[in-house]
Amino acid sequence: MEKKPIVAILMGSKSDLSLMRPACEILEAFEVEYELRVLSAHRTPERTSDFATKARKRGIQVVICAAGGAAHLAGVVAGLTTLPVIGVPLARTPLAGQDALLATVQMPTGIPVATVAVDGAANAAILAAQILGLNNPAVEKMVENMRAANLAKVIADDEELNGGS
Ligand code: RP5
Repeated sequence: MEKKPIVAILMGSKSDLSLMRPACEILEAFEVEYELRVLSAHRTPERTSDFATKARKRGIQVVICAAGGAAHLAGVVAGLTTLPVIGVPLARTPLAGQDALLATVQMPTGIPVATVAVDGAANAAILAAQILGLNNPAVEKMVENMRAANLAKVIADDEELNGGS
């Protein structure tokens, strides 16, 4: 039987996909079911609203929204659902992501968007996994294992540079 997605990754355009691949790869490595959607706050406002208002009932637990430029996708979705929304500002214009960063992060009080770094797709997926991990021990274990691997790599790199001392 096909498993239902519990994370949704939304992109303002299919042209954002290459920047969001790291999020897909991490969720796949963590064995988290996700769906990938192209939904735009500006170009498809009604479809975006339809997604956001129905997401929770469909079993989605965390929404990741990525957009560049006048990046309103995360904010619009956050205004339409009480699911946690993680915003990924993308560097897609001559302003190098500063436009998307400010548009995503500067939310009004009451409607938060957890904004990660410009082009921070990987951290968005890891944060989503940490949120899921509150009620999902298997996903929490995946996050712990990743951190242990990161720690071991930094120590190995340090020891390699210092001749094992
Ligand atoms: C944003 O405008 C999208 O998220 C994308 O980052 C940017 C450019 O979109 P395209 O013109 O390539 O479709 O809304």
